[in-house]
Amino acid sequence: MYQLCPSILSADFNRLGEQIQTLERAGIKWLHIDVMDGDFVPSISFGMPVIKSIRKESKMFFDVHLMVTAPERYIQDFAECGADSITVHAEACEDLERAIELIRDAGVRVGVSIKPATPVNDISHLLKDVDMVLIMTVQPGFGGQKYIPESTEKIKELRELIRREELDVDIQVDGGINDETLETVIDAGANLLVAGSYVFKGDLETNVKRICRRIEKISGQAE
Ligand code: DX5
Ligand code: ZN
Repeated sequence: MYQLCPSILSADFNRLGEQIQTLERAGIKWLHIDVMDGDFVPSISFGMPVIKSIRKESKMFFDVHLMVTAPERYIQDFAECGADSITVHAEACEDLERAIELIRDAGVRVGVSIKPATPVNDISHLLKDVDMVLIMTVQPGFGGQKYIPESTEKIKELRELIRREELDVDIQVDGGINDETLETVIDAGANLLVAGSYVFKGDLETNVKRICRRIEKISGQAE
């Protein structure tokens, strides 16, 4: 299953509701929601009240990416305000296994993310316990950065591990996805494709339709 997961970090917050409706009408199933705490990453984005409020108007799958130190503290809260999937950073958790358990117990999908400098090896023993691994393809914290080329090898390595262990784990990529890098990451084995500026810069609806067609073409999968 391939999905374009637009990141609302690049949305126009003055028109957030309207832009979310446009995405949903254009056929988007996954909405990527970046929560930043100003500690794990330098910037601060938004939190529970925003998610709660957009939840009322949208049926999309809410993919919440927590760039937060000690995210264990907030898992229950994010599940209650409408997350369908919660992703925590391996680097941000004191006890990653416990965090995974908490997400599972909250009844939502489990994601674990690694920053560009963190090797796949650090989380490979946990693959059987998660639904998705998010490989950060830029330094987490800001939209609009350039894809880090070393990420491609990490995606390939992870895809190979998942294949070898015969697991059903999604590989999500996040950061610097554009016309050029989209093909690179899909070829390497990613299937959940987060994109901020690529989707929101220019006309939203036109972009979504064009990018989704491109994903179908590159992945060879008509959805
Ligand atoms: C960055 C966030 C991303 C960001 C991606 O830390 O996790 O989701 O919105 O933005 P682009 O696609 O513009 O690199
Ligand atoms: Zn993200």
